[in-house]
Amino acid sequence: MRLNIAVLPGDGIGPEISEQGVNVMNAVCQKFGHEAHYKYAICGADAIDKVGDPFPEETFRTCEEADAVLFSAVGDPRFDNDPTAKTRPEQGLLAMRKKLGLFANIRPVQTFKCLLHKSPLRAELVDGADFLCIRELTGGMYFGEKYQDNDMAYDTNKYTRPEVERILRVGFEYAMRRRKHLTVVDKANVLASSRLWRQIAQEMAPRYPEVTTDYMYVDNAAMRMIQEPTFFDVMVTENTFGDILTDEGSCISGSMGLLPSASTGESTPVFEPIHGSWPQAKGLNIANPLAQILSVAMLFEYFGLKEEGAAVRRAVDASLDANVRTPEIQVEGGARYGTREVGAWIADYIRAH
Ligand code: IPM
Ligand code: MN
Repeated sequence: MRLNIAVLPGDGIGPEISEQGVNVMNAVCQKFGHEAHYKYAICGADAIDKVGDPFPEETFRTCEEADAVLFSAVGDPRFDNDPTAKTRPEQGLLAMRKKLGLFANIRPVQTFKCLLHKSPLRAELVDGADFLCIRELTGGMYFGEKYQDNDMAYDTNKYTRPEVERILRVGFEYAMRRRKHLTVVDKANVLASSRLWRQIAQEMAPRYPEVTTDYMYVDNAAMRMIQEPTFFDVMVTENTFGDILTDEGSCISGSMGLLPSASTGESTPVFEPIHGSWPQAKGLNIANPLAQILSVAMLFEYFGLKEEGAAVRRAVDASLDANVRTPEIQVEGGARYGTREVGAWIADYIRAH
């Protein structure tokens, strides 16, 4: 297969992990006889500095013309504490989502046996947790009407029926392919938008008789995720709830540096780690490349290349077993491996196995 990949390294540790994602992708292509062509494009604070726009038109075109986007991270502390900043790196990410119509964000929460002890939760609670959070990504408060003056501000949590239907369909379809358990997360006891979600979900559920569908308020879901993470199989929720719950989900596995995600919709799909740009670690060769590398596995799987995805996952597991790990998950007394060394080890492993 020939794959045209738009690579958006972005800010902070983005370029370092991006490089390892590309290395691993090249290793897979070599082994399986695929051809990947990369076109690099700027975004985030990097693009603000260079052209004054966090998601320039040219980057958009590069993404649109590609088969897939390999995205890393955006964000820069220069903007974080400046509420008056006119343009922010994060707007680049939001513009990308909106312009590419990426309404479905798939965030798997998985655990790795050898890292259970790193979880802030007791190992026996977390063991076996394996669920997908499907987050609506182009609607809700993020994109609804906003207003701000000195004395008042609001954001509007607006959803239309087609927006809700299409994301719930993604939820039901994933549930069908997994353990057939869908949890619709909302706040229907308070919010009108949530009541519409729940109404539509109840209308759709009979079309998926094999799926057990349950409904859970978001506050309750946040609690259940840490009390009994193994309860969940697929959860589907709106943009803001999904943002919050997936950060919570990501720490269950022991390190935020482990979890990849895929965003799909109307145009080119985007594959990215769920963590941010960790500016403090920029250039230090300490960032964990695994989330980025696993997002490469998701990319192959998206194109139906299951063996290729599995090869990446096996290599990641092997690196963990061999204690080839970045500092935040390394065992006591274990050797020091940086971003580059972990990436190179995984790429070599793929080529050799
Ligand atoms: C995420 C991030 C983004 C979001 C930020 C960077 C705009 O937190 O992808 O979860 O809120 O969606
Ligand atoms: Mn987030």
